[in-house]
Amino acid sequence: MCGIVGYIGANDSKGILLHGLEKLEYRGYDSAGIAVLNDNGVHLTKVKGRIVTLKESMDNSNSVEATLGIGHTRWATHGEPSTLNAHPHQSTSGKFTIVHNGVIENYQDIKRNYLEAVDFVSETDTEVIVQLIEKLYDEFQNTIKAFQEAMKLLKGSYAIGMIDVDDPNTLYVSKNKSPLLIGLGDGFNVIASDAMATLKETDQYLEIFDKEIVLVHRNHVEIQKLNGKVVDRQPYTAEIDASDIEKGTYPHYMLKEIDEQPIVIRNIIKEYQDENNEVKLDDSIRNAMQEADRVYIIAAGTSYHAGLIGKEFMEKMARIPVEVHVASEFSYNMPLLSEKPLFVFISQSGETADSRAVLVKIKEMGHPALTITNVPGSTLSREADYTLQLHAGPEIAVASTKAYTAQIAVLTILAADIAKAKGLELEFDPIKELAIVSSAMEVLTDQKEEIEQLAGIYLDTTRNAFFIGRGLDYNVSLEAALKLKEISYIQAEGFAGGELKHGTIALIEEGTPVIALATQENVNYSIRGNVQEVVARGANALIISMRGLEQDTDAFVLPKVHELLTPLISVIPLQLLAYYAALHRDCDVDKPRNLAKSVTVE
Ligand code: F6R
Repeated sequence: MCGIVGYIGANDSKGILLHGLEKLEYRGYDSAGIAVLNDNGVHLTKVKGRIVTLKESMDNSNSVEATLGIGHTRWATHGEPSTLNAHPHQSTSGKFTIVHNGVIENYQDIKRNYLEAVDFVSETDTEVIVQLIEKLYDEFQNTIKAFQEAMKLLKGSYAIGMIDVDDPNTLYVSKNKSPLLIGLGDGFNVIASDAMATLKETDQYLEIFDKEIVLVHRNHVEIQKLNGKVVDRQPYTAEIDASDIEKGTYPHYMLKEIDEQPIVIRNIIKEYQDENNEVKLDDSIRNAMQEADRVYIIAAGTSYHAGLIGKEFMEKMARIPVEVHVASEFSYNMPLLSEKPLFVFISQSGETADSRAVLVKIKEMGHPALTITNVPGSTLSREADYTLQLHAGPEIAVASTKAYTAQIAVLTILAADIAKAKGLELEFDPIKELAIVSSAMEVLTDQKEEIEQLAGIYLDTTRNAFFIGRGLDYNVSLEAALKLKEISYIQAEGFAGGELKHGTIALIEEGTPVIALATQENVNYSIRGNVQEVVARGANALIISMRGLEQDTDAFVLPKVHELLTPLISVIPLQLLAYYAALHRDCDVDKPRNLAKSVTVE
């Protein structure tokens, strides 16, 4: 989490830094700051709150011109969100100023072993880094050497940008595990946690690998290993359409991204079909899947929920046994593995630290890994053996929507391809059925008014809500509850319809909203029975069913799609319900409290 941007060039840096930080705000938004260097020294502006507050503060202060600067938007890990804990942080003498993204695991040890005499002004692990660099500078009288030696001592994750007040021609950079890119321009260079931040400036980027140091100057960039050995690396062109990262006429990114789902499914069909309109995957992925005796899906949050659906597909369509695990649990509590496991990491961002921790561990054990991600070149993609891309376009709203459906669609393709390779008969044509899904999604995204009304009736005044379903509908209920709670702050739970009566039904009282999914024929009567049980105890029940299974009292009927693919469409009214519930409560839909888009701390 946290976003970093930096600029060194011929123009004033502040506008570029502020624009970059706005684009990085999805990575954290509890405090922010900028440091710029000119002939009069380093000028620091820090605020608690959003970039808009930082901008106001800079407008109000007598802002200076400077052609070198670094900026940061924070998601607090060490120390509360406050101006004092906001980055950039400075060493005691003011010689060094840094921004940092990540977590320094041994910061207490470093403090104890090297910095006992230092008076710290913040509670952050970041201040330890900058003080350590100053301490090492006092010893070596050489900034590069001090920077290198400090990086050797750090344990944990970091992406760092640093200014030395006595060196206006260099931006010092390093990274380990946290993302950071160098953007190359004509007479200037930039650094950013994500190319989205600096796309206006350049589309040429240099990747930095873990434990490298980069000296970024105005007209050239030097990459070094920690031992000082210079590395040669070619830039690549970032293939992000700048218009994809703008909201356009939409009030929120989340609404835009919900609306983009039909087109995302069409993109996925286009990317993964051959000239005979059949699913096609890389041979290497197909072989790896076929060689495995068990697949372990590892993911977090919404991606974990997509994994639960993926398990159903792989077991039902491709007859491969699958386990799905929450990444943060798997790392520390690994189950007994099968003889030939294949690990599938599902991650929109490809940067989730909990998932990466598992990837590092299973690679050490020698197991193969496939990453399903929206971000090619992300850490999880680079470090796995194989990657399947989501082709969903940038997802900016913190609440994931189009990535969830894209993950499910790609998992459909994966399961169908393996089934075909194993000579198993599929009861449906996946490409044709996904095309039907895409049209059904369009019908649903056109029903916003109806769904907003339902949100008003069921969710506007409630303090809690339940989502229930059986089978695939249960998995979607988990996602619906997560979506509602994360953006509207209504306490919500997803439950297996049959499980409520084993305890949780005690929470049902007069008017408690219970939203039930009824899209699965084999459990249509039993889920409706579960609805009756809660209605008898005062619940305000809303049933979302599918054409063909509907009853007169159902509040919302989904267009018919193949029964296995219902999660792709049943989630859409649920995403919209969460959206309108949050909107009606005046919540910040795209940037809910306490959260960040890319969770790069364990
Ligand atoms: C919820 C949400 C999160 C993410 C989770 C994993 O809307 O977005 O639960 O799904 O943090 O992130 P990725 O998929 O980037 O690994």
